Amino acid sequence: MSYNPDRLAQMRERETAYRVPCSAMDYDSLITQFSFPQSVLGLRILDIGGGASNMTARLLELGADAYSIDPRYENPRRVYRDVEAYLSRGSLPEGEIIGATQTMAEFRTSILSNPERYINGTMSALPFDDASVDLIISNLAFSELLTRNIQALKRGASESYRVLKPGVELQVIPWGAEVVESILQGKPELLAISFALKSGLSEAEKHMQELGFTLQQEEIPEDPRGKILHALKG
Ligand SMILES: C[S@@+](CC[C@H](N)C(=O)[O-])C[C@H]1O[C@@H](n2cnc3c(N)ncnc32)[C@H](O)[C@@H]1O
Repeated sequence: MSYNPDRLAQMRERETAYRVPCSAMDYDSLITQFSFPQSVLGLRILDIGGGASNMTARLLELGADAYSIDPRYENPRRVYRDVEAYLSRGSLPEGEIIGATQTMAEFRTSILSNPERYINGTMSALPFDDASVDLIISNLAFSELLTRNIQALKRGASESYRVLKPGVELQVIPWGAEVVESILQGKPELLAISFALKSGLSEAEKHMQELGFTLQQEEIPEDPRGKILHALKG
């Protein structure tokens, strides 16, 4: 077989994705962190790395033209298994486990009834036309690539820029457990590429600026560990 760098990069990105734990964050808690328009009716909203969240399920109920993309959707049964593995690590409070189990049940119903809304793919190859998406959100997918596969993260940022309509946003909730842990431990090499960096721009953010995004970091008063990155397409 001949050497194909793109194919290799895709395979590597998928492998990386499977090393990221799969969670099931609830819409009601995520909605307090993302800035959504008052009405999402008819808006095309893409959740990158949606995992077993019920975000897309709820957005569809609200009339949005919602999609989630995650390489794990190649096998939904594996999603359920991976979330269960994540929940049974023993470190989560019981309330969180019960909540995530309910969220995953909602996700399960939704992916079974709307399979076309759950795209088996990765952030570096978004199957959407140029300037066709009204909002991109991502909870704990971009940040998880900071330490694992920065090239895929950059391609994900380029693709997000391509598919967003001008004047609309990519919103990234930046910190994952590993990033937070490394910040708390003061590992400078990880700080240098972290979205949660307090001063200066990370490598990924510089790339986003070069693409033409205007970056703004929003403090989250309830959580001093990180910030939401708003990347506005100019
Ligand atoms: C920690 S989970 C977060 C799931 C969900 N957003 C939530 O808030 O519960 C991270 C998800 O990102 C996905 N992911 C990792 N790398 C990705 C990539 N390059 N493209 C798309 N999704 C990716 C993983 O498969 C995983 O399901």
